[in-house]
Amino acid sequence: MSSVPQPSGRKPFLSDIQTLRRRAREHIAQGAVTPGYLADRDTVVKLLNEALATEIICTLRYKRHYFMAKGIHAEGVAAEFLEHAQEEQQHADQIAERITQLGGEPDFSPDGLATRSHAEYVAGDSLRSMIEEDLVAERIAIDSYREMINYLGTEDSTTRRMLEEILAKEEEHADDLASLLEDLAR
Ligand SMILES: [Fe+2]
Ligand SMILES: [Fe+2]
Repeated sequence: MSSVPQPSGRKPFLSDIQTLRRRAREHIAQGAVTPGYLADRDTVVKLLNEALATEIICTLRYKRHYFMAKGIHAEGVAAEFLEHAQEEQQHADQIAERITQLGGEPDFSPDGLATRSHAEYVAGDSLRSMIEEDLVAERIAIDSYREMINYLGTEDSTTRRMLEEILAKEEEHADDLASLLEDLAR
């Protein structure tokens, strides 16, 4: 990696290799969190725990909808619900992993889970209401991920990149659900 040439006497923009190595040794116990970590770690962990709760609630809701839709002979919709459930579960795992990398503790406690979650758990009593509730939840998730990404800015690019990938998936989910609703209307 080469740094941009600087006017004489100015400090180069990139830390020199000795400084990077010294800083890496200073706080070895902090794992992935180095002194160059610019974000407010406690806030990031708190936000990620809310996102974790959201993903768990969404997994549970999609699971419920999967089993109930199966019962009313809507195989195509059920398959979509199952796929979404599995993807929300993966998001939960990715988020929990990142929380531990940041030195935090992922909160899997069932106590207060629904309160920590941004999206709601709504059972739904018909195929249409299930799809509608899932779409509402996805739109809430999309907005809250977008806010978190804006909050992080350039201060924690790893968390930001992860959230951007999850956001793209939630947008895909919302699109799938909108198409299912259109199909139902036909
Ligand atoms: Fe998700
Ligand atoms: Fe989703």
